Amino acid sequence: MTEKKVALVTGASRGIGKACAIELAKAGYSIAVNYAGNQEAAENTVKEIQKLGVDAKAYQFDVSSKEACEEAVSKIIEDFGQIDALVNNAGITRDGLFVRMTNEAWEAVINTNLNSAFYVTNPVAKIMMKARKGAIVNMASIAGVYGNAGQTNYASAKAGLIGFTKALAKEMGSRGIRVNAVAPGFIQTDMTKDLKLDGITEHIPLRRLGNPEDIAKTVKFLIEDGTYITAQVIGVDGGLVV
Ligand code: NAI
Repeated sequence: MTEKKVALVTGASRGIGKACAIELAKAGYSIAVNYAGNQEAAENTVKEIQKLGVDAKAYQFDVSSKEACEEAVSKIIEDFGQIDALVNNAGITRDGLFVRMTNEAWEAVINTNLNSAFYVTNPVAKIMMKARKGAIVNMASIAGVYGNAGQTNYASAKAGLIGFTKALAKEMGSRGIRVNAVAPGFIQTDMTKDLKLDGITEHIPLRRLGNPEDIAKTVKFLIEDGTYITAQVIGVDGGLVV
């Protein structure tokens, strides 16, 4: 019998999160599919995963609520008994020039993209520490590495995630837990569909935008294959230099 493995992927009803959930399912993980509001999309992800012959279940919770994350992690443990891998993927943008940025736009992005990593990872890390194994991947962004005009809130959150990744990796390494970040470039999802990206491919050495599977394969590699990789930020951006 193959060893049971369980992964929690946040924001897995669509886009990069969904692709990560499917890629990990192909590697034999049972998947806890977190979603914010679109139950139908989450159930579709679950069905696609179940077709691959592993367990999956959808969990509605808002990653920007500490209480909701704690409750959800307890429920996932009741259902699956363990969490071996965590992908902190859920995220939003509320772009705008800094001088016009509202508190609401600032706080929404920091809460959803950065505080969420604390809220979800805190209960999960306790479980991984007891098991003395685990792998965590945080979805950062090139905006958190290079900065991006109109995204001070988003870049701050993503740069925060990178610091979080490196610090947590140092704390958790001796317990057999690895923590890495992926920094995607421009990936074709709902998040980027309204951006004006004309001419952007000229600045990308691979001459194309990325797709969710490009990111998912890297996440799967970091979780499954990168057994001596921790505290790293892997750019998956087609070579884009901003
Ligand atoms: P998306 O908008 O298609 O997916 C984001 C997912 O997060 C959705 O499923 C959404 O429901 C979920 N989500 C949002 N707020 C939530 C909340 N409060 N609680 C639970 N779930 C919530 O976007 P995409 O592109 O798939 O983004 C996934 C991650 O990748 C995000 O963290 C994003 O910042 C990051 N990223 C995306 C890039 C791109 O070019 N698409 C580039 C760099 C990073």
